[in-house]
Amino acid sequence: MHKTIRQIKNPKNLQLQSVIDGLEDELIVIDKDSHIVQANRAFYSRHQIESSEVIGKYCYDVSHGLPELCKPPRHECPINNVWKTGKPARATHMHIYDIADKEQRRYLDIIAAPIFDNDGNVTHIVELLRDVSEAKRLGLEINEAHQNLLALNKITNVVSQTLDLETVLSTALDKSLEMLKADTGGIMLWDENAQRYRYDVHRGLSPQYITEMTCRAGEGITGIVAKTGKSILLKDISRDKRAVHPELIKLEGLKSFVSVPLAVKDKILGVLNISSRGAGEFTSQDIELLSNIGSQVAIAIENARLHQEVQQQDRIRGELLNQLYSIQEEERKRIARELHDETTQSLAALAANLEAILLNPALVDKELKVKLKSLQNLAVSTIDGAHKLIYELRPTMLDDLGLVSAVRAFAKQEFKKANIVLNLKIIGKEKRLSPSLENTLYRVIQEAINNITRHSHANQCDVTIEYKRKTIHVSIVDNGQGFNVRETFNLHDGLKGLGILGMRERIELMNGSLDINSRLNSEGTSINIEIPIKNGGENGQD
Ligand SMILES: Nc1ncnc2c1ncn2[C@@H]1O[C@H](COP(=O)(O)OP(=O)(O)O)[C@@H](O)[C@H]1O
Ligand SMILES: [Mg+2]
Repeated sequence: MHKTIRQIKNPKNLQLQSVIDGLEDELIVIDKDSHIVQANRAFYSRHQIESSEVIGKYCYDVSHGLPELCKPPRHECPINNVWKTGKPARATHMHIYDIADKEQRRYLDIIAAPIFDNDGNVTHIVELLRDVSEAKRLGLEINEAHQNLLALNKITNVVSQTLDLETVLSTALDKSLEMLKADTGGIMLWDENAQRYRYDVHRGLSPQYITEMTCRAGEGITGIVAKTGKSILLKDISRDKRAVHPELIKLEGLKSFVSVPLAVKDKILGVLNISSRGAGEFTSQDIELLSNIGSQVAIAIENARLHQEVQQQDRIRGELLNQLYSIQEEERKRIARELHDETTQSLAALAANLEAILLNPALVDKELKVKLKSLQNLAVSTIDGAHKLIYELRPTMLDDLGLVSAVRAFAKQEFKKANIVLNLKIIGKEKRLSPSLENTLYRVIQEAINNITRHSHANQCDVTIEYKRKTIHVSIVDNGQGFNVRETFNLHDGLKGLGILGMRERIELMNGSLDINSRLNSEGTSINIEIPIKNGGENGQD
């Protein structure tokens, strides 16, 4: 039979009982044998039991249905300390209840305080229990949200700063492992060639696992995640029937497993897997965190891939342009040769024959003589025209004498026609550059000069060619009417601006830069070109 404490039987204590019944918090008084000797209304109503089911029962039995005092790892019982030290103790306990078949957790703040007898001995302990579940839940939620934000922020910062796929994947994996306090995992992406998902980056997995662990969509845990776009959390993957290659998983010793999709809009790019060799180590919070990471990473992967594609297309475009320009040069050379070898030769023969006829004394018809003479003159001037054309098509001077001579000859000839004064300045010692670089520079300067004679209304032009140690710098400055550079290229008029566009393309293919400074109705136009020279003229593109 249980003992009751004497004090509560007198009227004062009855008054005390009504005071403690008025408390919102639960209160119980426990004796040395852990029997509950007094409780308040709040306690009865929470447990939904009568006083007869409480008074005289063991506190651990009533509170937790346990056969003995609470002890770690479950809970440290605060009353042990009170008996030992005679001082109050505090603890927060989690109580698990089945309410309507649903597991519910309650957190109770417990303050246990001693009750002394007249000799100063602890005879009983009073326990005050306050329900802090709501505060705890809110605290946990806030903390979790905070952790999620921190983690996401960290990942987003790192992965959004790079467009390199390799770096995106490695960083994402390392950060995910760090946050889940795990050391095993990887990112599987779809391999077009193999038509399977396979590991692109991984940590803590054996080479055999990496090579053999591949799957199709819908196949195995990863395949299911990739197909459904839904994350999977497993306490122990080695016991999961859906896993492909179970022997590999067993060999690897994997147990806890969490797998989240890497999806952008409706497209699933792959899967992020984190695992551990202990069972049940990940929680639903982890999966939520990882899912958030997954969406960030997927965007970064998509960006990196798009960037790769653009770069690849840029490379192809560059190669095509290069080919195009060299085909163009070859074609010009061929036409120039044909014009020289065939057309001008035939015209020369024609002129010589006409001369012979004219010198023939048998030819007496004056009118015919005049006609033949004008035909001969036409043949000669056509030869001149053809020679000019040949030169424009392929300035032999560029091959024979180099850039400066070819530019000087061309500029002089063009500016003379347009009444523009040329001021050509060479800084540094002229040296021969690679044929493709000399050709690029010549064609670019040729276009700039043509633009000046055609559009600028200038009467003066300064052309400066400066040979530096590692670069060649060309500036072409006219004092004409100028033009609105941005507008010219914003017109979206297919044919306008093709000349300058071509200049830019050619220069970029040589890893150089083009800078055009001009404003309509201002001081004119200045063009600056800088192209690197490699080892005495050998350019990188050769
Ligand atoms: N030196 C210049 N002075 C004035 N306007 C220029 C000059 N260079 C180019 N422009 C303007 O820029 C436009 C685009 O030039 P470009 O790309 O070479 O094409 P195009 O010469 O075939 O018109 C020209 O039509 C002209 O209006
Ligand atoms: Mg032009």
